Amino acid sequence: MNHGSPLDDLSAIAAVDPHGARDVLARFPEQCRAAVTIEAPSLPPMKRPRVVVIAGMGGSASAGDLIAACAAERVEIPIVVHRGYGLPSVAWDETLVIAVSYSGNSAEVLSAADAARARRVPFVAVTAGGALAEMAEQRRQPCVRVPGGIMPRMALGSLFFPMARVLRALDVDVVSGEEIAEGLDVVEALRPELAPERPAASNEAKRLAQAIDTRWPAVYGGPVTGAVAYRWKTDFEENAKVFGLAGALPEMNHNTIEAWRTALARQLHLVLLRDDREEPEIARRFELLRDLVGSAAGGVSECRARGRGVLARLLSLTYLGQWTSYYLAVLRGVDPWSVPTLDEMKRRLGNG
Ligand code: F6R
Repeated sequence: MNHGSPLDDLSAIAAVDPHGARDVLARFPEQCRAAVTIEAPSLPPMKRPRVVVIAGMGGSASAGDLIAACAAERVEIPIVVHRGYGLPSVAWDETLVIAVSYSGNSAEVLSAADAARARRVPFVAVTAGGALAEMAEQRRQPCVRVPGGIMPRMALGSLFFPMARVLRALDVDVVSGEEIAEGLDVVEALRPELAPERPAASNEAKRLAQAIDTRWPAVYGGPVTGAVAYRWKTDFEENAKVFGLAGALPEMNHNTIEAWRTALARQLHLVLLRDDREEPEIARRFELLRDLVGSAAGGVSECRARGRGVLARLLSLTYLGQWTSYYLAVLRGVDPWSVPTLDEMKRRLGNG
């Protein structure tokens, strides 16, 4: 039967998505709700940390970005997301290190755990298992075990909420109980709006994927939603296997904006992540950005965060990005679950 949009053909979607990434995305609200109840382990004996370092890579690191973005609005200590081997020099005795790796096998995160031990820095692991869980158990270090079995980038809720809980137990409140409740409600309300059963005519994620089509997405957020823009880029890369650009206002007004003069801009689709609570000067910059570069782009779309609290706003945009990149994968006929080159890299490094 011809449904109009190829994204409304559920059996065609199923054929491109044999691992059922759509079911995992559809269960994201439940994943978040369950993650809120995961207990923090007994924590290192320490006073309130003066610095928090979250060591992680890829999808696991993006849960750290979400923590840092929430914290930026209310917490007066720095939260540093460290993507790499070892630890940054800021990590010493009044620092809490959270080593987050969904698989538990990312070499960089294992080396951060080693560095924390060598420097005797208070440490907590957050993982679904692997070498990180084993290491924490052998060393009798605190470890939050989260449910396994899905792709790390799709486990954002399972990683974010336990980290927030660990921090709260050490008197670092990155989100309030009210903000968590609102965040959970907002993603739950979004699910039926974005799921495959909702036709493209009224499904923002499907429409956006169709608008991007064969172009490359260039996603820009504001000071708060910029962290989510980066997450959109990585979801486009891993789910749809397309290049994505990402940046944040105001910084990109001082550099990237110039690159939009190239004729190649036609092959980009500009996606603006807007937020009703953005400052008037940021709103003005978004308007000017549209004016200045919108006509050079192959297309322009604006997406609005939902909710009042920072968590709801960030989670709603993240969820929209996950679905949009999912539908772009479907349109391109690529399996949104598998990441064969990424896996091959890990395999060759002996780090699967
Ligand atoms: C794969 C994915 C990657 C991983 C990254 C780090 O689904 O999302 O970005 O998150 O390779 O692996 P983990 O999260 O297991 O430490």
